[in-house]
Amino acid sequence: MSILVTGGAGFIGSHTCVELLNAGYDTIILDNLCNSKSESVKRIKEITGKDVKFVKCDIRDRAGLDKIFSENKIDAVIHFAGLKSVPQSCKEPLEYYDNNIGGTVTLCEAMAAAGCKKIVFSSSATVYGSENPSPLREDMPEGKTTNPYGTTKLYIERILKDTYAADNEWSVCLLRYFNPIGAHKSGRIGEDPNGIPANLVPYITQVAIGKLDHLNVCGNDYPTPDGTGIRDYIHVVDLALGHIKAVEKVLGETGCSTYNLGTGKGYSVLDLVKAFEKACGKKIKYEIAPRRSGDVAICYSDPTKAKQELGWSATRDLDEMCEDSWRWQSNNPNGFED
Ligand code: NAD
Ligand code: UFG
Repeated sequence: MSILVTGGAGFIGSHTCVELLNAGYDTIILDNLCNSKSESVKRIKEITGKDVKFVKCDIRDRAGLDKIFSENKIDAVIHFAGLKSVPQSCKEPLEYYDNNIGGTVTLCEAMAAAGCKKIVFSSSATVYGSENPSPLREDMPEGKTTNPYGTTKLYIERILKDTYAADNEWSVCLLRYFNPIGAHKSGRIGEDPNGIPANLVPYITQVAIGKLDHLNVCGNDYPTPDGTGIRDYIHVVDLALGHIKAVEKVLGETGCSTYNLGTGKGYSVLDLVKAFEKACGKKIKYEIAPRRSGDVAICYSDPTKAKQELGWSATRDLDEMCEDSWRWQSNNPNGFED
């Protein structure tokens, strides 16, 4: 079976490609490298000892997509390609709508034309908005999104649901990720953000190696035990393995289904600081800063549906996530540029 992985050079995509190759799938990576480096593709090959085809292409390039589908027999698509920065999406909403929504529509049109109607999509817990209480379940109504990035995820979910409703030959699996962190055990692939990281763990790792002076803890007056925000951190390898189960499902049957990929456990920002200090053996300097606009106090999953229907659950704990993030960062202080 052959799987096209859009955004496969990125953080979650690269880890998923490793697991796809390990599971015996032929894997083709499509990425425009706007937020990743081709070095990650080399390292996927190094880790697995298997070949992977790489095509530099934009998901908005219909001719480029048609060429890939005509030259390869593709059984299913895992669709990671997209822009993911919440603050950048507020500054450049049209770029986000064009890239994420426009790109997904073009991709689906090319898939339909090629007769490949099986897709696994990277959605986000952000679609639950702030109205639903945690643990979040897939049968809860979607919430109000607070930024254009989140809105792209909500709309793409609707577009894919409508696509299935109009044509039952499609097989769609919407995966709502919680907070992916960690890295492959080898320390050879991991998260490599451009500029100053916007997310908690890459920020902490850069404080730990001395690139950044201290962490700003964004709010300590939330209604949580220590006052800091609670999230459901999930090891990126567990997340990647969830995609293998999702691919098996779309290959095996038509339909449209939605799954949370989370651990079901919530940890605060200060819990993360403590766990990371243990993993790296250093103190993480932090200061309390104002709340970040758009943040919810508590966000964690109910992962029961994925366990029951996909036979998947996360097995790696917070200590392992922090150890693996630290191995990646300390072995590659400048990310893939080393
Ligand atoms: P990433 O930026 O590391 O990976 C995305 C990849 O897509 C990059 O390699 C980038 O170069 C590529 N890309 C972007 N636009 C493209 C385009 N138009 N054509 C071709 N390639 C393009 O991000 P990630 O953390 O691996 O996230 C993967 C997906 O999961 C994204 O869709 C993201 O929105 C979603 N997601 C991520 C998180 C998270 O916290 N990391 C949470 C929920 C959902
Ligand atoms: N935080 C800090 N300091 C920082 C960065 C983050 O205290 O420098 C806090 C945040 O306030 C929050 C927690 O750490 O309480 C986690 O923040 P992240 O930015 O790491 O993650 P988010 O939960 O805000 O967002 C992530 C993804 C989004 C996705 C969302 C829901 O980045 O793409 O999860 O799935 F939409």
